[in-house]
Amino acid sequence: MSTSPEPDRPLIDLGIDRPHSARIWNYWLGGKDNYPADRDAGDMVEQLIPGIVDSARADRAFLGRCVRHLVADAGIRQFLDIGTGLPTADNTHEVAQRIVPECRIVYVDNDPLVLAHARALLVGTPEGATHYIDADLRDPHRILRDAGETLDLTRPVALMLLGILHHIVDDEDAYRVVRDLVEALPSGSYLAIAHATAEVHGEAMHEAMRRFMERGGTPIVARDRGRIAEFFDGLELLEPGVVSCSRWRPEPSPWGEPAEVSQFCGLARKP
Ligand SMILES: C[S@@+](CC[C@H](N)C(=O)[O-])C[C@H]1O[C@@H](n2cnc3c(N)ncnc32)[C@H](O)[C@@H]1O
Repeated sequence: MSTSPEPDRPLIDLGIDRPHSARIWNYWLGGKDNYPADRDAGDMVEQLIPGIVDSARADRAFLGRCVRHLVADAGIRQFLDIGTGLPTADNTHEVAQRIVPECRIVYVDNDPLVLAHARALLVGTPEGATHYIDADLRDPHRILRDAGETLDLTRPVALMLLGILHHIVDDEDAYRVVRDLVEALPSGSYLAIAHATAEVHGEAMHEAMRRFMERGGTPIVARDRGRIAEFFDGLELLEPGVVSCSRWRPEPSPWGEPAEVSQFCGLARKP
């Protein structure tokens, strides 16, 4: 079998000389799909924010608790998960389809490496559907058009925006894409968000983000609890509101409340 590229097909630039959001996340989560630029930047951030690995894990644990709640308690059967990331343990479709195999999931990401892995690994149950769209969050109308081929957008959908909105640095753009997506979904749909914040580590978090971007990393911005809550305007925010991912309905523990992490989250229902 030849491994040389097809002559008229452009080589994909994975940008492995620069740290990238999906790959740093993969590094912090203990995965192998990352490069020296990602590991160096990941270590730099960890020096400034010693709890950053817990933050990535808490985000994933929130994903699990949130999807379980949506399927088991709220009756949701359709998910639009934008900012998929590199496949890891307990991806959205695995959590959902383990409870109800008929669940339908559409993943969206704009990273070519995520695209390559997703097609191979994000394979769901025969009863349900798992589809992947290579698109940018800043193009919500294209996402909705393509997602509509797999999801019935007249029925409730859970829109998952975990670890992605902080990459839409411009506030106006960030609130607009959320508004456009939520507006297109019917009553009874849900919006889940996990977002980086400086509420816990203050200036160290801003400094880590600055240094990350100086290395050519994916643009990123921290938003405070109030700004994150604004994404849910017009929706019914479920208890306990916008909190650290570690404190969103945590599993009972004899050691008291978990420590806060620098990723805050919330889940809301569209009335
Ligand atoms: C930190 S990972 C989060 C992965 C997963 N959602 C989670 O919470 O564990 C962020 C993902 O968002 C993707 N991403 C960033 N900006 C994006 C954009 N404008 N459009 C689509 N995907 C984007 C990145 O490629 C990356 O895979």
